[in-house]
Amino acid sequence: MRQRFLNAVFLSCATVSALQIPFLGPLIPQNAITKKPLVSSEAIQADISSKALLKRAKELFKIAELGIDEYNHPTRVIGSKGHLATLDYIYSTLASLGSYYTLTNQTFPAVVGNTFEYRLVLGATSPNSTQAMSLTPPTADKEPVFGPLVLIANDGCDASDYPANTTNAIALIQRGTCPFGTKSALAGKAGALAAVVYNTAEGSLSGTLGTPSKHHVATFGISRADALPYMSSLQNGTVIDSSAYIDAIVQRIATTNIIAQTTAGDAANCVMLGGHSDSVAEGPGINDDGTGTLTLLEIAAQLAKYDVRNCVRFAWWAGEEEGLLGSDYYVSQLSARENLKIRLFMDYDMLASPNFAYQVYNATNARNPAGSEQLRDLYVEWYAAQGLNYTFIAFDGRSDYDGFIRNGIPGGGIATGAEGVKTAEEKDMFGGSEGEWFDPCYHQLCDGVENCNLGAWEVNARLVAHSVATYARSFEGFPARTGVKGNSAAERALYHGPKLVM
Ligand SMILES: *[C@@H]1O[C@H](CO)[C@@H](O)[C@H](O)[C@H]1NC(C)=O
Ligand SMILES: *[C@@H]1O[C@H](CO)[C@@H](O)[C@H](O)[C@H]1NC(C)=O
Ligand SMILES: *[C@@H]1O[C@H](CO)[C@@H](O)[C@H](O)[C@H]1NC(C)=O
Ligand SMILES: *[C@@H]1O[C@H](CO)[C@@H](O)[C@H](O)[C@H]1NC(C)=O
Ligand SMILES: *[C@@H]1O[C@H](CO)[C@@H](O)[C@H](O)[C@H]1NC(C)=O
Ligand SMILES: *[C@@H]1O[C@H](CO)[C@@H](O)[C@H](O)[C@H]1NC(C)=O
Ligand SMILES: [Zn+2]
Repeated sequence: MRQRFLNAVFLSCATVSALQIPFLGPLIPQNAITKKPLVSSEAIQADISSKALLKRAKELFKIAELGIDEYNHPTRVIGSKGHLATLDYIYSTLASLGSYYTLTNQTFPAVVGNTFEYRLVLGATSPNSTQAMSLTPPTADKEPVFGPLVLIANDGCDASDYPANTTNAIALIQRGTCPFGTKSALAGKAGALAAVVYNTAEGSLSGTLGTPSKHHVATFGISRADALPYMSSLQNGTVIDSSAYIDAIVQRIATTNIIAQTTAGDAANCVMLGGHSDSVAEGPGINDDGTGTLTLLEIAAQLAKYDVRNCVRFAWWAGEEEGLLGSDYYVSQLSARENLKIRLFMDYDMLASPNFAYQVYNATNARNPAGSEQLRDLYVEWYAAQGLNYTFIAFDGRSDYDGFIRNGIPGGGIATGAEGVKTAEEKDMFGGSEGEWFDPCYHQLCDGVENCNLGAWEVNARLVAHSVATYARSFEGFPARTGVKGNSAAERALYHGPKLVM
């Protein structure tokens, strides 16, 4: 504090002397004369225009079209040409800002899965809710496998739940208590040919096995309604001869996070924000998360006109769609000392859903690192000041904030909705269509430029600018960092990324 104050006095004196006594010019440090104005929320909000955002969205769609070669449609999934060109676009835009930012490429190992075909037949029927889990391995030799269906005890989270006759059988396991990946690995260790997890909530079950394990077996999800008749048959000793087939690949590749940190500002007190640079394989991902990626890039470009008191660190994560790979890796590589320099992390994922709601993550200090709630309230106060409605949404591990809050760093963010359905009440609050998804093109081919609501995008981009400017100026009243340990609530989250993990 004191040092900064002295600095400011020195600079203003220097400026005055330079004006009054021009011949002293050469003695005055160059940066004192060209000192930029301190960023303010009003100024940087005024720098945001939907025109600039739309222009970038069109460029990003062109980049996604580079994925057509390999995927037959535009995509920016990790490993694709569309993603590599996205990284080049982000990096070159930042590099063009000169020495305002220090840029880092952080390359890390990632996995990407692709399921081509699958089939599950239990007895004489094929459950119509059948889905292959993401990152599932194929069945042996990518051929159908045959065996009896065996009911696994309890939740299948313990090796002792798997009877001896699981060997060469297809394991039927209840959802719950532990991740799908744990069940799949335990089934594999018990010698199962495949595993079927049935839901305990309503509807079909679509999830991911997460980090690959050599013990994983081909794994499906089915609804509880579909599972019940088989379970009662198994309980009275009926043998259900079954077959399972999955043709899929799980590939290991390298991909890259891009980090940009202001050279100015107190490097021991950073405000960090991130969006993900990748899309799913199914489409170009312009709303998810082109809008976050481009909002950050536009704000990074505008911020370069200003001075900051605290360091500002932008991140473009890769591998979010495969289970928060980039942000997890980043946090895992921080020493305790580096971790403590990050005062908070703000997640910006999907800012312009066509049937949007203004959603604020309900991040409270009771369940998350202290400061999360102050950030939540910053968003709430801003929307309220603009006369806009907002809703709270679950802070449940679905995006890149998860690694941060699990490691003691306060977090939060805003979004505009994915596959959730807009209620009648939300229609009154935000307009749009009741009973439809916030983003009807979520994770699909149609997530192009037209899928973005430009009005909502501009509003949210101004709020992102406000969040950056606020903390770039001061952390006054914002809780100090206390430790690098997270909370147990985060560890029980159903999500770790966009897909269910348990
Ligand atoms: C960082 O990655 C970007 C995007 O792939 C690339 O264009 C750039 O040359 C890399 N920079 C360095 C220093 O490796
Ligand atoms: C499966 O079929 C049943 C009855 O035919 C139907 O009610 C249910 O909606 C179907 N489920 C799916 C996921 O298609
Ligand atoms: C597998 O073993 C369990 C318990 O030992 C038994 O209840 C079940 O009927 C057996 N299933 C098959 C298909 O043999
Ligand atoms: C077991 O249950 C199934 C379905 O509930 C029924 O069709 C079958 O007849 C029963 N078998 C025995 C041996 O009770
Ligand atoms: C926000 O989270 C807190 C728990 O941390 C909970 O008590 C509260 O009901 C939640 N609010 C909403 C609107 O979901
Ligand atoms: C906010 O929501 C209320 C309904 O709860 C609605 O009457 C009002 O028009 C909304 N405000 C805006 C700015 O949309
Ligand atoms: Zn996303």
